[in-house]
Amino acid sequence: MQHTLENTQSPVDAAICSRRSMRAFTAQAVARADLEHILEVASRAPSGTNCQPWKVYVLQGATRDALVHRVCAAHDALRADPSLAEQYKEEYDYYPQKWVSPYIDRRRENGWGLYGLLGIGKGDRDQMHLQHQRNFRFFDAPVGLMFTVDRAMGRGSLVDYGCFLQSIMVAARGMGLHTCPQAAWNGFSSIVLPLIAAGPDEMLVCGMSLGYADESALVNTFDTPRVPVKDFTHWLD
Ligand SMILES: Cc1cc2nc3c(=O)[nH]c(=O)nc-3n(C[C@H](O)[C@H](O)[C@H](O)COP(=O)(O)O)c2cc1C
Repeated sequence: MQHTLENTQSPVDAAICSRRSMRAFTAQAVARADLEHILEVASRAPSGTNCQPWKVYVLQGATRDALVHRVCAAHDALRADPSLAEQYKEEYDYYPQKWVSPYIDRRRENGWGLYGLLGIGKGDRDQMHLQHQRNFRFFDAPVGLMFTVDRAMGRGSLVDYGCFLQSIMVAARGMGLHTCPQAAWNGFSSIVLPLIAAGPDEMLVCGMSLGYADESALVNTFDTPRVPVKDFTHWLD
């Protein structure tokens, strides 16, 4: 029998394929031991010459709430006064300066698909702003993670980071938890980095929401397609 994602027997496949970006979480607390376990598992991620360039900040309670408050206020202020954008710049280009096909098409499909599911129309800028701002509330997750890398490191460390981040997200599935990786925070690193007391040598890689998914939330039914293997693979025999 040919293995498909539907009939796979592999628990590894199941953990990977059950991961989705969840954008609504319950208030249920996450046990410290579970967080430590996830990070310990993820620390087994590979990295070039075993550099392990990751540094993780776990935000909960009052610290999490203070960050949410500060960044939501900045997000609102930025909307009211776009000239503030100078203060809120990403430190590295997560996305390209100039978009090209097919990526721009997939990006649009993703964005409008999510807003469409939520009944947010193209002209509804208030609702778009509020939905985007849910990023800065960690989608109500009780745990927010921030990831930094030493500025001295090269671009390869971001490749290593991808392995680490995916390992966290998959290990979280093993504990019945869900996640949403978030580059949205990167523009607000001038607020995030001082608040988490990161050193001047640290650059924000991204954030992540972690918790128990709200299974009743419409937003969590959002299903994202994938390009078939044959369309991104070249077999050179
Ligand atoms: C590094 C990274 C950053 C992301 N940033 C955001 C973000 O800021 N906000 C958000 O809602 N989703 C974010 N996503 C989630 C993507 O939109 C999502 O992975 C993609 O649409 C595929 O959907 P899936 O994760 O449910 O499979 C990010 C994903 C990655 C890997």
